[in-house]
Amino acid sequence: MENTVKTLIPQIQWYPGHMKKAKDIIVNNLKLVDVVIELLDARIPYSSANPMLQEIIAGKPRLVALNKSDLADTKVTKEWVAYFRQQGIPAVAVDAPQGRGIKQLVSMTEALAKPMTDKLVSKGAKPRAARVMILGIPNVGKSSLINRLAGSNKAKTADKPGVTRAKQWIRLGGNLELLDTPGILWPKFEDMTAGLKLAFTGAINDEAIDRELITGVFLQTMAEMYPDRLRERYKLAGDLPSEPHELLELIGRKRGCLVKGGIVDTEKAQRIVLTDFRSGKLGTVSLDMPPQDDGMAEDEQ
Ligand code: G4P
Repeated sequence: MENTVKTLIPQIQWYPGHMKKAKDIIVNNLKLVDVVIELLDARIPYSSANPMLQEIIAGKPRLVALNKSDLADTKVTKEWVAYFRQQGIPAVAVDAPQGRGIKQLVSMTEALAKPMTDKLVSKGAKPRAARVMILGIPNVGKSSLINRLAGSNKAKTADKPGVTRAKQWIRLGGNLELLDTPGILWPKFEDMTAGLKLAFTGAINDEAIDRELITGVFLQTMAEMYPDRLRERYKLAGDLPSEPHELLELIGRKRGCLVKGGIVDTEKAQRIVLTDFRSGKLGTVSLDMPPQDDGMAEDEQ
């Protein structure tokens, strides 16, 4: 399956030139901040991580925010938070549109940045707010998080002398300023299992990929990990067909996706399944599990 998938997920959305440009923008902005918030999709914290993050941020203190936690399995998200903390990386589950976890995110960011700003003061600099930027792959919720954090502070701080003129900062409470432009990172294209999960969640535009294949693998994954969610949502009883196409047809039939002659409109059935998953109608689902025994090297995240 892995090899078939390899040929079917094109890597067309990010060319090397795009990646270099994205990296350069982030590296330039990194000079202005004390801390970065890496935004991950709580349903797929491994797959939604940029493969070069460590290299790009070059030792800048980092905090992980697991966004879309409303769509993820709470128990698994807790395990991920514990996993990152074990690695010495502060982590928190958030839901940007609803505002869940945001207060904690702000206080954890302040705490992470404090040693940096204290150090500057101890060297004789004037006290200043800590500065932070948000990084993440497309669609992970960066704009939603910035909007949520900005809240009533939408009136941004004025440009600062000594800082690139076009930069805008949003003041978050007393001691923190957020760069209003997030860093956009490319997703893991090389790892095909991760690529599939990105496609399930909609992080990779599915017009560019074989939707039938994506839905098939998604259904197979769900049948293994969360079979009851499929049974409940589509009113299926007993054992689920092991063949993904059969399962899709069964779901299509249950949902009345029929064309002339009683044939199942699998296109329609596919759309229903993926839309149901992306909007949380299949319940809270986590597709990446944290490594059990410290097995995931930091630079593999
Ligand atoms: P980006 O800047 O990283 O590209 O992501 P953006 O904030 O635009 O969010 C991408 C989509 O994810 C948006 O949905 C947004 O509403 C949704 N989203 C962001 N954070 C969360 C979250 O914590 N939980 C849930 N359930 N959804 C989240 P959209 O369909 O593209 O737009 P819309 O529904 O806001 O109109």
